[in-house]
Amino acid sequence: MRVLDLICKKRDGEILTTEEINLLIDEFNRGNVPDYQMSALLMTIYFQGLNTKELTALTAALAHSGDTLDFSFLGTMVADKHSTGGVGDKITLIMGPLVAAAGVPLAKISGRGLGFTGGTIDKLESIPGFKTRLSAEKFMELVKENNIAIMAQTDKITPAEGKLYALRDVTGTVENLSLIAASIMSKKIAAGAGAIILDVKLGKGAFIQDREAAFRLAETMFRIGKEMGREVISVVTNMNQPLGFAVGNILEIKEVLSVLKGEGPADLEQLSTILGGYLLALMGKARNPEEGKEELLRFIKDGTGLAKFKELIAAQGGDNAYLEDPSLFPTAKFNQELVAPRSGYLQEIHAGKIGRVAALLGAGRSYKEQQIDPAVGITLNYKVGELVVEGATLAHVHANDEDSLEAAVKELYGAFTIGEEKAEDLPLIYGVVPSFPC
Ligand code: URA
Repeated sequence: MRVLDLICKKRDGEILTTEEINLLIDEFNRGNVPDYQMSALLMTIYFQGLNTKELTALTAALAHSGDTLDFSFLGTMVADKHSTGGVGDKITLIMGPLVAAAGVPLAKISGRGLGFTGGTIDKLESIPGFKTRLSAEKFMELVKENNIAIMAQTDKITPAEGKLYALRDVTGTVENLSLIAASIMSKKIAAGAGAIILDVKLGKGAFIQDREAAFRLAETMFRIGKEMGREVISVVTNMNQPLGFAVGNILEIKEVLSVLKGEGPADLEQLSTILGGYLLALMGKARNPEEGKEELLRFIKDGTGLAKFKELIAAQGGDNAYLEDPSLFPTAKFNQELVAPRSGYLQEIHAGKIGRVAALLGAGRSYKEQQIDPAVGITLNYKVGELVVEGATLAHVHANDEDSLEAAVKELYGAFTIGEEKAEDLPLIYGVVPSFPC
């Protein structure tokens, strides 16, 4: 195989065979394909796209480029969840323990956050002692024992995907829906998932801001999953305002605890139980998503979900004293109120701007190796549509140094739009792929 021939073939609109894709990814993984040729091929794919057969072949080749996890010893499918990333998105940490309590084994391998705030792994690591670096054996053992384990991505799983992503990142080819779909699904397949719930975020705090693109990504990932014999549901959800009220790692862990105690913001409780309900239905643990959702709401009411969360934390070395008494968590040095400059209805709380301010405070990272500050972030007091009076506290800024505090407060005002008219309530969900029989 000459890579040049594949570049020309794709450039001219032809279809690559499964054998060609397998060989290409294998050689690339071994370091035998120069970056300049792989970059050229990525750019031809960016413009020519991939058909379903090519996409499935690419996903499978990436999935099998390293270690794969096999949960067949459990005698049941394991589930996984993926979110394309949003602001205040802590759904995994709420939904995960709830579905695990309902008998769904959840084996979740997560990346660290890049951009607005930390990812699930960063949030978990803000609990003292919690270990996210696990061997595959330990990870599988924990899933068997507790029905839930969450670990950080390793270089051993889908190494070719990691190399390809690094190249996409510097060649302007990240924003291709086929490549995004193959990238996400390869990691789910390699991690042994049989049932996958995909949360495709759409809006001002998401990397997709175009409705058609969000649904195309949702459908593409669903199609890949089906082709590969996986049960998949993609849900396109609203990311125009932050989820919940807390943005920042420790602040979000505290909010997870509130939701699991039945005291959390309604949007988080609703979205976590809706997505979990779909997963229960997919796994045959509920007759339909609605029934699944109701069961998970019961697990919030009776404390079963909270108990499972504590079990997850303890099993991975986390100190449960912090969960019993969240006031033990370190707090940021400065806590400044942001007051409403006028009275009126909140017409917008711009998730992207809130996320950027959180990153500026140190809650997120702008490059991979950057340390994050677990204590900083923003806590909001309102949702879009609510009435505020002049001088009311819109939000608190939690900062660890005066310079970032000052810059954050200045920028944060731009995230709020207050007007005379009451804005329409924002929907939580835009749509589900496939439309699920309820
Ligand atoms: N997230 C991924 O995992 N892969 C992409 O290509 C883009 C977002």
